[in-house]
Amino acid sequence: MKGNVLIVGGAGFIGSHCAKMLVKAGWTVTVYDNLSKGYREALLYGDFVEGDIGDKQALLKLFEEREIDAVMHFAAFIEVGESVKKPELYFNNNTEKTFILLDAMRQRGVNKFIFSSTAAVYGNPQFTPITEEHPCAPISPYGESKLRVEEKLATLTNNGMNSVIFRYFNAAGADPAGELGERHNPESHLIPLAIKAALKKRDPLSVFGTDYETKDGTAVRDYIHVNDLCKAHILGLEYLMNGGKSNLFNLGNGEGFSVREVLKSVEKNLGVPVPATDCPRRDGDAPTLVGDASKAKSVLGWKPDIPNLDDIVKTACNFEKKL
Ligand SMILES: NC(=O)c1ccc[n+]([C@@H]2O[C@H](COP(=O)([O-])OP(=O)(O)OC[C@H]3O[C@@H](n4cnc5c(N)ncnc54)[C@H](O)[C@@H]3O)[C@@H](O)[C@H]2O)c1
Repeated sequence: MKGNVLIVGGAGFIGSHCAKMLVKAGWTVTVYDNLSKGYREALLYGDFVEGDIGDKQALLKLFEEREIDAVMHFAAFIEVGESVKKPELYFNNNTEKTFILLDAMRQRGVNKFIFSSTAAVYGNPQFTPITEEHPCAPISPYGESKLRVEEKLATLTNNGMNSVIFRYFNAAGADPAGELGERHNPESHLIPLAIKAALKKRDPLSVFGTDYETKDGTAVRDYIHVNDLCKAHILGLEYLMNGGKSNLFNLGNGEGFSVREVLKSVEKNLGVPVPATDCPRRDGDAPTLVGDASKAKSVLGWKPDIPNLDDIVKTACNFEKKL
């Protein structure tokens, strides 16, 4: 065995895929999740302990019982719109509870931490592709709740905690073997929404903004396959286990795809149309959000294995058809 990894939020979309990849790669995995958004059916790899990251006593006990080498953090609320309506919920769950987890780690001498941050920390892009040097000016409480953790991690580095922060762009796709996939409730991500609309599991899709200065007038986003994110997490883990110091990386495909391109890809994969209605632009939506992940490539040796949109969408379609 390579080492003991605690995955908090491992019953959710990205965490469950990471648990699978880590177990397959020979790591010992414990998943810790309060199941507020995750699924028991996604708990296929590693030991499961039910609990909340704000429960310090439970975490202290867990760290005492299992010799945890590193913590991967996926436990958060992720709805930008909800965060605007209920900011305190997001600062409590995503920020304050993460501080409790970090404190429990410090008390038990666990000093390697991998944190799922988000491109939402950048706010409205001043340039694209967005590099890690882009100023951080989040425009939602969700983005702010993550940035506050990043800032805390920067201060903890001086006290011996080494962390790898990953700022993801749009996580997408599903386990190519079909065991796991994306099941947010409510779902707000374009690819699963388009697939559900095509399969008549929901109303027609709204395409917000068709007059942007982009290739076809619709908004362009950077979709990265969930397994490529997981691959980066394993490289980040190895980096820390080998004595690497705190660092932060963008994770994106480097290529942007428009809303219309995503819909076409879903239609091509499923062989049926995606019912969709053109709507005006939404406030706060940037025309283009694409990440520059060259730092993760040069420092960690990472590169996406599934960069092609049709391949990403295919894995998502296969999972959705089974639900
Ligand atoms: N999905 C994306 O496109 C995306 C993009 C950027 C960043 N991220 C970040 O990646 C992480 C994972 O996202 P996801 O899409 O897998 O979300 P998800 O909702 O599928 O998974 C989150 C998991 O965390 C659990 N959880 C939430 N609060 C908890 C708490 N207080 N204690 C214990 N467990 C708790 C939930 O039950 C769920 O299983 C999040 O931190 C998110 O902010 C996701």
